[in-house]
Amino acid sequence: MGTSESLALPVSTVVAVVGAGAMGAGIAQVAALAGHPVRIIDARAGAAAAAVTRIRDTLSQLAAKKKIDARKVSETVQRLDAVEDIEALGAAGLVIEAVVEDLEAKRLLFSQLASVVPHDCILATNTSSISVTAIAARVNGPQRIVGMHFFNPAPQMPLVEIVAGLATSSEVIQRMMATAAAWGKVPVQTKSTPGFIVNRCARPFYAEGLRLLLEQAGDCATIDAIMRESGGFRMGPFELMDMIGHDVNYAVTKSVFDANYGDPRYTPSLAQLELVHAGFLGRKAGRGFYDYGSAEAPRPATEPIVTVPSPSITIFGDSDLAKALARRLEASGHRHLDRPYGDGGHGVVAKSGDTVVLLTDGRTATQRAQDLGKDNLVLVDLALDFGTATRVALAKADSCADYAFDRAVAMMQAAGFAVSRLQDVPGMAVMRTVAMLINETAEAVNHGVCTAEAADLAMLKGVSYPRGPLAWADAIGPAAIARVLLNLSTWYGEDRYRLSTLLRRRAASGERLSVSHA
Ligand SMILES: NC(=O)c1ccc[n+]([C@@H]2O[C@H](COP(=O)([O-])OP(=O)(O)OC[C@H]3O[C@@H](n4cnc5c(N)ncnc54)[C@H](O)[C@@H]3O)[C@@H](O)[C@H]2O)c1
Repeated sequence: MGTSESLALPVSTVVAVVGAGAMGAGIAQVAALAGHPVRIIDARAGAAAAAVTRIRDTLSQLAAKKKIDARKVSETVQRLDAVEDIEALGAAGLVIEAVVEDLEAKRLLFSQLASVVPHDCILATNTSSISVTAIAARVNGPQRIVGMHFFNPAPQMPLVEIVAGLATSSEVIQRMMATAAAWGKVPVQTKSTPGFIVNRCARPFYAEGLRLLLEQAGDCATIDAIMRESGGFRMGPFELMDMIGHDVNYAVTKSVFDANYGDPRYTPSLAQLELVHAGFLGRKAGRGFYDYGSAEAPRPATEPIVTVPSPSITIFGDSDLAKALARRLEASGHRHLDRPYGDGGHGVVAKSGDTVVLLTDGRTATQRAQDLGKDNLVLVDLALDFGTATRVALAKADSCADYAFDRAVAMMQAAGFAVSRLQDVPGMAVMRTVAMLINETAEAVNHGVCTAEAADLAMLKGVSYPRGPLAWADAIGPAAIARVLLNLSTWYGEDRYRLSTLLRRRAASGERLSVSHA
């Protein structure tokens, strides 16, 4: 096998794009920009020509902003050909279909194409939810059928999942990996399983958010702010679902749930179904979790500044939270700060008077207060980086007095955090979501869907997570994440929180999750 560059389809290869909708037009643009002659076709008369016009306009706008060379635009547009007859695809070396998301429609199309294109023409599907194996099953030459899953909008989103069906040849996979890379994309290889990598591993981001809302841990704006400002995610789950559209997001969850025979890990949320029923589909409908017609966006619940004098603070241990708290309090000129050698026992990170502060480990604050025999106990949610986070979430045990909670709030405010209070749900918001993202990603790797490296890369490039889930697990420690999930599983008694075998193994061995082990 040659180098990856020599494996890429030469730019002289004719690329046919079938389906000139949102995805097809974007993919045609990418292929033409990369230098390929592109034929674009759609079942609806005039749709392909309209797509070429749209691409030309988009590229001309980019040229006007000096983001692309004007000559390149005219060369690219010349390479684009709208055709109306499938026979016009006879010279194609690669076909990418982006037609309606329907198994029978895709099968029929590929069967028709198989009799038009050369026998070695690669047939790629942009499906996001249908089994590539199933699409290929009744088509002549299933070894050349492959998934090429672009993300929306295709010209901007870097990730492309190259999906191997059971019959897909490894040569075709390698060619498409190399071709996507030559087109300036970041390809990752995956097996044809429900949701592939990204649409599967991202499910807990929405599911845990919805569950937190259902359990009234906080309102949408507060949970979103915590996920952004503490978790480091670009958007919180509710604003993101509103942007994606609840019809689309719910349908993906439902299809992954159904395809996994109703595995409770993927159970869709009734809270989201209600929005779908109401037609509150998100931004595009003017209303979803948020009302986009209202003059003022809802603000996250933020604790008012506590002005009572806070007693001396003691910070224990070398955890990320302890180190960042000490540094931030010192930087803000906090005078009464004690930093004894050694830890505070039982995971205590800080004390302020008789208030003890700990990082959540998947138990509720109330449960932890009982286990520790400390009434005035406050939990802190996970942050991507406690050194730079602007907000932190706290939850108090039922037994914690208000004055004692205020001391924890005062400590965090002195360290420069905005503080949001969550109700006392197990695992809080960021910790629980991140632990579930890690678990799902570990399980995908465990089932051979992709390598550990591909999984992290896919989540970084496909959904712009601030850190690959498996690298995040390594930063926190697989054993700590396993503990969080075991505590969640004990609390809820649901199969949903069961531990991935791979995470369990790495927690025991101490080996890293983010790298493949022979
Ligand atoms: N929209 C997304 O975010 C997204 C992301 C990744 C993958 N996908 C997948 O890409 C595919 C297309 O999605 P889209 O959002 O571009 O849809 P779209 O509705 O915007 O476009 C589909 C186009 O295909 C045409 N079409 C339908 N059946 C056809 C056929 N048999 N032959 C030729 N043309 C046909 C339609 O006329 C339409 O123009 C689907 O499989 C979808 O699951 C979509």
